[in-house]
Amino acid sequence: MNKDSRIYIAGHTGQIGYGLAKKLQSDGYENIILRTHDSLDLLNQKSVWDFFKKEKPEYVFYCAGVLGSIDYFVHERTAVIYNNLIMQANVIHSAVKNNVKKLLYVGSGSVYGSHASPPFQETAAIDSIQQGGMEAYSVAKIVGLELCKQYHGIDGRKCISVLPTHVYGTKNISRIKNTLVEEILQKMHQAKQEGVKELDLDIWGTGKKCIRQFIYLDDLVDALIYMMVNYDENLPVNIAPKEAVSLDELAHIIQEVVGYTGTLHYQTDKPEKADDRLMSVTYMQKQGWNPRYTLREGIQSFYTWYLDELQKKGKQVS
Ligand SMILES: NC(=O)c1ccc[n+]([C@@H]2O[C@H](COP(=O)([O-])OP(=O)(O)OC[C@H]3O[C@@H](n4cnc5c(N)ncnc54)[C@H](OP(=O)(O)O)[C@@H]3O)[C@@H](O)[C@H]2O)c1
Repeated sequence: MNKDSRIYIAGHTGQIGYGLAKKLQSDGYENIILRTHDSLDLLNQKSVWDFFKKEKPEYVFYCAGVLGSIDYFVHERTAVIYNNLIMQANVIHSAVKNNVKKLLYVGSGSVYGSHASPPFQETAAIDSIQQGGMEAYSVAKIVGLELCKQYHGIDGRKCISVLPTHVYGTKNISRIKNTLVEEILQKMHQAKQEGVKELDLDIWGTGKKCIRQFIYLDDLVDALIYMMVNYDENLPVNIAPKEAVSLDELAHIIQEVVGYTGTLHYQTDKPEKADDRLMSVTYMQKQGWNPRYTLREGIQSFYTWYLDELQKKGKQVS
């Protein structure tokens, strides 16, 4: 991938796509092709085909998707499976048939089934389906992996996939997400500003048994570019830090970074979530990539950015 390569980012207004576009621009890639949802509906097969035929991108990062909170996944199953399946099929097929050099598909840790044993190895990605409301999303993302696998190698075209763990951070303050890290950080910041002494968080039970990995957006986009440039196999690559924390530890790290001194309360009336969905990072490390940020450093960097953005908007931050 050269600085003048024609690079298309599908989903560039989203959390990952927006961060990736910013990074590629700041790294000097000068030929980035972007289309908003309004100007190119990825559900429209003909529009997607015409776009690829005309623009002929050489490299494609697939960062589009329809996703949200667990409530969204549970209540909008048909939208989740339909939109994700059709969009990715349209993009992957049209890209390969219009001579893309390489496509990188952003999969998801949701492809690892409920019965897979942690830490998840990439070879177990399509073994069974994750339950608990994630079925529609998991199946759509598994199909995306299989699409890439089947198109990989056609006429020398390359389709690779990565499987990121939970992503936190954003580069777009107007579209900040309400996923766990963002939600806790914003709540604590607000509580600190308002001098609130007790804070309820949406963590079930003690939060000590639910162990997760979180990757900072800056690290993830770095991994996407690294894999696009260096990785050519069709086995998907997990993108996650080795570091894993319980939700209780996560809350305390955020509390220290934000400097909130009040007392935290969890949803102790709700069942303890004993969720250990750790991804193996051995294969990723073998490819020569590692995250730069520890969880604390990533949250610190994200909070510094968040305060800067609030200041730009004229809000009081200390
Ligand atoms: N965020 C995570 O923690 C995470 C973790 C693992 C994997 N992933 C995967 O990474 C990818 C990106 O995730 P994200 O969190 O960045 O998602 P996001 O913030 O929800 O962004 C999704 C992007 O897709 C676009 N899009 C949706 N429907 C479209 C359509 N019909 N036509 C054109 N564009 C459309 C959205 O545009 P509009 O907003 O304008 O509709 C937006 O730019 C997804 O494939 C997701 O499965 C995410």
